[in-house]
Amino acid sequence: MKPFFCFVAPVPKVVPTRASWVSRDLLKGSKYFYVERVFYFGALTRQRLQLQRTSSIWNCSALSETETSSSSKVPLAQPVVVVTGASKGIGRAIALEFAKAGCKVVVNYSRSVSAAEQVVSEIKEAGAESFSIKADVSSASEVESLFQQVSERYNRIDILINNAGITQDGLLLRMSLEQWKKVIDLNLTGTFLCCQHASKYMLKQRKGRIINMASIVGEIGNAGQVNYAASKAGVIGLTRSLAKEFAPRGVLVNAIAPGFIVSDMTKELDQDKIKQIVPLGRLGTVEEVAGLVAFLALHPSAAYITGHVFNIDGGMAIGSS
Ligand SMILES: NC(=O)c1ccc[n+]([C@@H]2O[C@H](COP(=O)([O-])OP(=O)(O)OC[C@H]3O[C@@H](n4cnc5c(N)ncnc54)[C@H](OP(=O)(O)O)[C@@H]3O)[C@@H](O)[C@H]2O)c1
Repeated sequence: MKPFFCFVAPVPKVVPTRASWVSRDLLKGSKYFYVERVFYFGALTRQRLQLQRTSSIWNCSALSETETSSSSKVPLAQPVVVVTGASKGIGRAIALEFAKAGCKVVVNYSRSVSAAEQVVSEIKEAGAESFSIKADVSSASEVESLFQQVSERYNRIDILINNAGITQDGLLLRMSLEQWKKVIDLNLTGTFLCCQHASKYMLKQRKGRIINMASIVGEIGNAGQVNYAASKAGVIGLTRSLAKEFAPRGVLVNAIAPGFIVSDMTKELDQDKIKQIVPLGRLGTVEEVAGLVAFLALHPSAAYITGHVFNIDGGMAIGSS
């Protein structure tokens, strides 16, 4: 009996303030039930307030909060985001998602100039700042020039999304060395080069977020894609190592591993076959991937996440990673 007595002791303090919105039905219940419901509703209200607060600070606040100068609070500019391979597909959706949040978006592309310009004008229509830069991310000199141009314009980089990627599929015995190198050079070395340049700014700022586009193939493998799978497994290793290297300087590094997403990269594949092997029975959308990227890059709740790989694959890799 003693423990029960201890539990109901706070009731008189709670009842007068909350009685007005606790339904009469609840009042009919036992003391124990009543107290439980009061605490339950209290928790719900707290949860609702928390949600309102979270959604009201969504827009870029994680990286654009005010900083204290000697005497006053100085507002920082909106975050500068570099998205590689942003002319099409997932990269394009990511760039547009950052535009919605009011970021300054640098749209990188390598061949699709008009598609990239179209993305830039859509970003501007959304009220955000943007410009495009042509650069092959597998080329060290072009990556250097890419970041030089970003630096000249903004002199800071807050978020880097290493999204550019290609496939050149083939079975191992038929795969040429050129095919192997092309995919590794772009998907893995390109990610390495961009991280190296962008991190110079982030480490100085003691703040920044890097998100690398991996693939579930980098975790579970895929026949006919040894080059692609190796490149994406490499991206995962790079991500985890860099997260450890940069954590003391406040720079977060994570990876996203999509399954099958509707884009140019998957348009030639047998869609019906894919649907059969995906537990959710469909391909993912580029907007779904972009939403996850935006959460990791901008949301205050993501400030304690680093060195992780997030699968977004309709359940394909359950139990395999
Ligand atoms: N779609 C999927 O199912 C899927 C699944 C897992 C992972 N991913 C990964 O997600 C990322 C985006 O894929 P996606 O499906 O959106 O592909 P996508 O539609 O083919 O788009 C690829 C993007 O990368 C750019 N790009 C290609 N070569 C480049 C280079 N050398 N330098 C700079 N940019 C270059 C392209 O720009 P240009 O046209 O201007 O060259 C384009 O903007 C890739 O890393 C991919 O591996 C995709």
